[in-house]
Amino acid sequence: MNHLNILLLGSGGRECALAWKLSQSPRLGRLFIAPGNPGTAAYGTNLAVSPMDFAAVTQAAVDHHIDMLVVGSEDPLVAGIADHFAATPAVSRVMVVGPSAAGARLEGSKAFAKAFMQHHGIPTARHIAIDQQHIDQGLAFLDGQRPPFVLKASGLAAGKGVLIVDTLAEARTQLQAMLDGKFGQASREVVIEQFLHGEECSVFVVTDGRHWQLLPVAKDYKRVGEGDTGLNTGGMGSISPVAMADEAFMAKVRQRVVEPTVAGLAADGLPYCGFIFFGLMNVDGDPYVIEYNVRMGDPETQSVMPRLQADLVELLEAAATGRVDEVAVATDPRAAATVIVTAGGYPEAYRKGDQIDGVDQVKDSIVFHAGTRADGDRLLTNGGRVLAVTTLAPTLAEALERTYANVERIHFDGAYHRNDIGR
Ligand code: AMP
Ligand code: GLY
Repeated sequence: MNHLNILLLGSGGRECALAWKLSQSPRLGRLFIAPGNPGTAAYGTNLAVSPMDFAAVTQAAVDHHIDMLVVGSEDPLVAGIADHFAATPAVSRVMVVGPSAAGARLEGSKAFAKAFMQHHGIPTARHIAIDQQHIDQGLAFLDGQRPPFVLKASGLAAGKGVLIVDTLAEARTQLQAMLDGKFGQASREVVIEQFLHGEECSVFVVTDGRHWQLLPVAKDYKRVGEGDTGLNTGGMGSISPVAMADEAFMAKVRQRVVEPTVAGLAADGLPYCGFIFFGLMNVDGDPYVIEYNVRMGDPETQSVMPRLQADLVELLEAAATGRVDEVAVATDPRAAATVIVTAGGYPEAYRKGDQIDGVDQVKDSIVFHAGTRADGDRLLTNGGRVLAVTTLAPTLAEALERTYANVERIHFDGAYHRNDIGR
């Protein structure tokens, strides 16, 4: 059996969960994480390398005889790290899990993603994409919509580029502000779309560009406050499975969304190896695509990986070699729940450097690190989303109960979590 040395890029809870899962594979040689965090250090070797520093990533791949690069977040993909590896002789044989810049436009340009969906008949909200020159068309489109109004910066805006506003006057004002650079270059082009009513879920596949395998379905909780109130965050918790994503709904997802997306990538000459994350709205039982991401979700990954009954190294190798259909992928029937412990104040200004206690008191749950830093023997907060506590249990109720019992064992000044994840 040949073993693969893997370099995983990223430093969040998602990467900690990916590292946890990769480390369980008998196919793994050595695992490196760049830059990683104190949690990933339990599963591999952290390297002080920024994922956006392609020269340093390339050098690390050479130095550590890397066979596979797994890209956790979208920025390096949109910036072309897969193309960079393919074009650099010293690393061109490295398997890259993540699309080329062309494929990453599914996430990097919402205007591109909407045009792709329209072209391939994939259900999504009606929309128009405009720039400053076509603001009149944008205003006319707004006039034809009922509130609330959905305005999206087309480019990457660190998860902040979507505005949902209640009045036409506010929508007109915000449209102008976005085109004027409210989100920098990202909002020089704006997608305006119909508001869809329904319940959201996150569907993930691994694809080799022709075949695909579904991973467990998840739901994330984006708002900071209980009852889905307050500011949007990077995610306050997640669960898997999702009751509303039943077999009938998932059959429609496979047929109307996943299959035409993968076929569309192939038809459009966009080779694609890696994850596709479909942000879906269930509108009266029918799936609509809210967004594509070209990577796994955070904090969905923390609930998805424990339920994934497949060898992740084998699955990703199959994706890189066009054989993803040959891998057995099953889902653990048990439920997973993840609760994020954040720094007080997040997603607005928050403190870093507070001492975290109690992680070693956690029983029968997994703690995935996100915003943490080691200082000798001490563990300190180092980000807004600090830790994810995940439990796999026979029922969602049990998974939640154990997760929350363990969340209570973790202490640092200002620690905050939502109490209604999965409820
Ligand atoms: P995004 O950044 O694309 O994930 O959008 C952020 C959030 O805005 C989504 O998760 C949805 O909750 C919401 N959203 C985006 N587009 C729509 C839409 N067309 N209708 C209703 N809600 C939407
Ligand atoms: N949880 C949503 C995301 O990762 O974009």
